[in-house]
Amino acid sequence: MENSSFAKPLTRRFIAGNTLEEALSACQKIHAQGILITLDYLGESVTLRQEAIASRDSCLASLRRIGELGLPATVSIKVTQIGLDVDEQLCFENARSLVQAAHAIGSRVEFDMESSDYVDRTLRIVERLHEECGCVRAVIQAYLHRSEADIADLNRRKVPVRLCKGAYAEPLERAFQAKEQVDGNYVKLAKQLLEEGAYPAIATHDDNMIAPARPFPKDGFEYQMLYGVRRDLQQRLVGEGYRVRVYVPYGEAWYPYFMRRLAERPANVLFILRSMLGG
Ligand code: FDA
Repeated sequence: MENSSFAKPLTRRFIAGNTLEEALSACQKIHAQGILITLDYLGESVTLRQEAIASRDSCLASLRRIGELGLPATVSIKVTQIGLDVDEQLCFENARSLVQAAHAIGSRVEFDMESSDYVDRTLRIVERLHEECGCVRAVIQAYLHRSEADIADLNRRKVPVRLCKGAYAEPLERAFQAKEQVDGNYVKLAKQLLEEGAYPAIATHDDNMIAPARPFPKDGFEYQMLYGVRRDLQQRLVGEGYRVRVYVPYGEAWYPYFMRRLAERPANVLFILRSMLGG
């Protein structure tokens, strides 16, 4: 499925290309509009050591090209992509080489947050690397009950945080389920980050989540949005002088990422069906 000829027309709204060079050409167009980038080499749930090392090498290659092109870009990675399910030490070593490479070119590694079983181990790696090199960003999901305490701890350590709503199916005892509850918690956590945090990222396409950050100093935070989602809003915010960073995924392992985007918005299924039928 991931390599089939059906894939490209299906995924091109959300995925910037199969190869690094295709993604970089999308990044240059985005950069020309005054928008910052975080480049994501797609991959997750890796179970073999060689696959984890290959993912690390692909992310190192993207950092190398970011440096060569002078793009205002960070990279986003997932800990299960670089071996957390294989061996935590291997994952840490891989993460450290990425953070060191990012540091060398003045970039940053943003650690996406996966399902709640991974939160403790992900934060442990991020905090260790923050102490060693800086240039990391943690991600916190507003749907988790634990997130207020996690943010207080990250703020104390001055670790920059990306706040998102959360994209995985989580049980009742760990996460708010109702949209109003998730949204209410998002606004509360965003204020906690904007008032006490270190250069937070407000990652959302929801106007009601964007509004509470507006009065804060424009150089003290950034908005983040996904490639292919609410381009109108991205442009508008840049026009108003806000910093906006777009998350640009590329690579062949697009399936889980793509399915999360469809799940977030059922209307996307119709959109995809229409484009498959040539409409
Ligand atoms: P919400 O889902 O309420 O959407 C608000 C509006 O935005 C919709 O009405 C629609 O107009 C538009 N919209 C939202 N999603 C859309 C879509 N897929 N297609 C088209 N329109 C859409 N999650 C996670 O668990 N771990 C992570 O590390 C990250 N990282 C991350 C980085 C960045 C930069 C962003 C923007 C998001 C993430 N996420 C994430 C995903 C996040 O948790 C969440 O699932 C989505 O952002 C959707 O939530 P919104 O805040 O956009 O609100």
